[in-house]
Amino acid sequence: MTKNATREPGLFDSWDDYSNIHMEANVPPGESPLNVASLEELVSLALRLGASSVSGWSQSEQELAANATPTVNSVIDSAICLIQRGLDPLGDSFCNLLSASERRPLGAIYTPQVIVDAMLAWSSSQLVPDRVVDPGVGSARFLVNAGRVFPNAELIGVEIDPIAAIIARGHIAAAGFSDRTRIILADYRDAVFPEISGRTLYVGNPPYVRHHLISSERKSWLVRTAAKHKLDASQLSGLHVHFFLAIA
Ligand SMILES: C[S@@+](CC[C@H](N)C(=O)[O-])C[C@H]1O[C@@H](n2cnc3c(N)ncnc32)[C@H](O)[C@@H]1O
Repeated sequence: MTKNATREPGLFDSWDDYSNIHMEANVPPGESPLNVASLEELVSLALRLGASSVSGWSQSEQELAANATPTVNSVIDSAICLIQRGLDPLGDSFCNLLSASERRPLGAIYTPQVIVDAMLAWSSSQLVPDRVVDPGVGSARFLVNAGRVFPNAELIGVEIDPIAAIIARGHIAAAGFSDRTRIILADYRDAVFPEISGRTLYVGNPPYVRHHLISSERKSWLVRTAAKHKLDASQLSGLHVHFFLAIA
């Protein structure tokens, strides 16, 4: 496979293929793979990719959209090209514009493509879901790839960071899945979905945030919710444990 070849979404012929295509999107910290200078410009890019067409917009996202800094056509073209090749240029730009320490309080560490592919390949060997939920959707890496692997599934992403939610919308729109996707800006522990008769696949990489950053109200919620499931939970648990219980 050459660097310019179009690959079937979700598949690599070898580790070298993965490395070649993936490393293009991993640039040194502080630089953007797309030449995007600010989060405001990244929001503008997501809007130009069609973010508005994905349902579930919140007030805070609308305020961010109103203050977006325009981006240029060449950046939009590059983003579309990279997304069509199965990469996540918006998520990569987000991670390059914010340092690891700035992203740490929300546990915003996005998942390498090779892991996304492996988890979805395993999931597809287990079931064909009617709905896919990523409880902390980030830039929609899992959700976009789930859309490719499960062409008939409804897609739902929950995210607490409004900038990430807008980026997820842009990624989903550019991948062509707006019609069957909803992005919800919320704390996942408060998110409510309608019951469906079919099967729901919960897939993603939850935020890993230490208990020091979790409020006492949320810690009490954890213990109460665990007890409802006849489980013990420590108040010292990280945020990922809250997510597991919220899914249960
Ligand atoms: C480890 S990242 C994973 C993102 C994406 N699922 C991926 O794997 O690339 C966790 C995401 O959860 C979000 N998050 C953190 N706390 C949250 C909460 N309480 N409810 C919903 N999302 C949350 C973060 O902003 C971040 O985007």
